[in-house]
Amino acid sequence: MLIAALAGSLRRGSYNRALLESLPALAPEGMTLELLDLQGIPVFNEDDEAGEAPAAVTALRQAVKRADGLLIATPEYNGGVPGGLKNGLDWLSRPSGQSVFPGKPTALVGASQGPFGTVRAQGQAKASLEHMGAPVMPTPLVLIAHAKEKFDEQGRLSDERTRAIVTKFLASFADWVTRNGRR
Ligand code: FNR
Repeated sequence: MLIAALAGSLRRGSYNRALLESLPALAPEGMTLELLDLQGIPVFNEDDEAGEAPAAVTALRQAVKRADGLLIATPEYNGGVPGGLKNGLDWLSRPSGQSVFPGKPTALVGASQGPFGTVRAQGQAKASLEHMGAPVMPTPLVLIAHAKEKFDEQGRLSDERTRAIVTKFLASFADWVTRNGRR
């Protein structure tokens, strides 16, 4: 089972990227994760759709298409989905009729410095993804609040309680992908 794992932050030292990098050690047997990010994705402009898509967009689109499932790690900016991530999702929904999302088993995780652990960003992203036809796993949730306390100096997810939550989440996602994926 191949999972496209998209980091919603480009920040050096991003907790969301670190979260995705921590997943292989916690994933169930048979799950492989391909780490993806938004590097090089320009701001979407519908005027440019007729031409060839930028290389970074094509690569991201192909990676999501070939994966059995999509896992998105979203930060939270101002109570919602960061613009860069939403822009990336908009690109992946186009051109019309070639969206990567219909029927793609999807789940969200997130880490933030605030006390709510990206619950608002995840809610917004889930609404958009469902609008685009992705079956988004409803629970369990991975909401990592006060992220600085949950990762060590090397960026490893070190909080044992959170590691247990993430392990359970990944097992549930494997099941979600199997039940909702390509037949
Ligand atoms: C934030 N941050 C933040 N945190 C949060 O919990 N709720 C929020 O609404 C916001 N809003 C917000 C806006 C902007 C513009 C920035 C730059 C930051 C803090 C955020 O959680 C923190 O920067 C995380 O470390 C971002 O995720 P990465 O980059 O570490 O993956």
